[in-house]
Amino acid sequence: FGGAYRYLGTVGSTQDEMRSWSDAPHGAVVLAERQTGGRGRRGRIWHSRGGALTFSLLLTDGRSLADLALLPLAAGVALQDACGVGGVKWPNDLLAPDGRKLAGVLLEADVRGEEVRRAVLGIGLNVQEAPPGAAALSELRPARRVDVLRDLLDSLERWLTAPPAEVLSAWRARNVTLGREVRVTTLQGEVHGVARDLDDDGALLLDTAGGSARIASGDVELVST
Ligand code: BTN
Repeated sequence: FGGAYRYLGTVGSTQDEMRSWSDAPHGAVVLAERQTGGRGRRGRIWHSRGGALTFSLLLTDGRSLADLALLPLAAGVALQDACGVGGVKWPNDLLAPDGRKLAGVLLEADVRGEEVRRAVLGIGLNVQEAPPGAAALSELRPARRVDVLRDLLDSLERWLTAPPAEVLSAWRARNVTLGREVRVTTLQGEVHGVARDLDDDGALLLDTAGGSARIASGDVELVST
């Protein structure tokens, strides 16, 4: 990955820069120094100061819609592997050992029928500095952005093409979600329970007061007990 890349100064969002790079090949990377309109999952804003790694990676390797569900989990595994610290909160935030957020992943895909035409995986990782309440990798270990980027692209290349069973077991080995009491916000509302496991599609299975629940997409808050 990163054989074709664009390194830009200030942009709105690297996700949009990648979308408008119409002939970008599979594995292309758009990296920006700063974003004025960085987006996060579920309509949030991604705030970063200088000193973060913010980039988008293009995937055009003909994935099916069914394969798409595990991509975010694979990206979380890749982040944890490359950074070598912390753990993954479902589906893919990398948290420092004290629970502060180090990195997040945003997947945006252009889907036609059952086929994924272009998937743009956006990653924001606080390396040298972090916004208030978040953590920077350099607080935890020596980290140069160029080295972290190289390691992360290698790790993404490995995990985004790994067999589903390997991704799931690697995720289980690196997560900080299972066994925890969680509050999950979904489009349907809030669910409270204990995170039990993932199913084969990467959905989160919860034990709730009303029985078990399956969450395919949502935002997890770890409840401290
Ligand atoms: C999240 O934690 O909700 C996801 C954050 C994703 C941020 C990255 S930074 C590079 C890429 N461009 C964006 O606008 N967002 C992603």
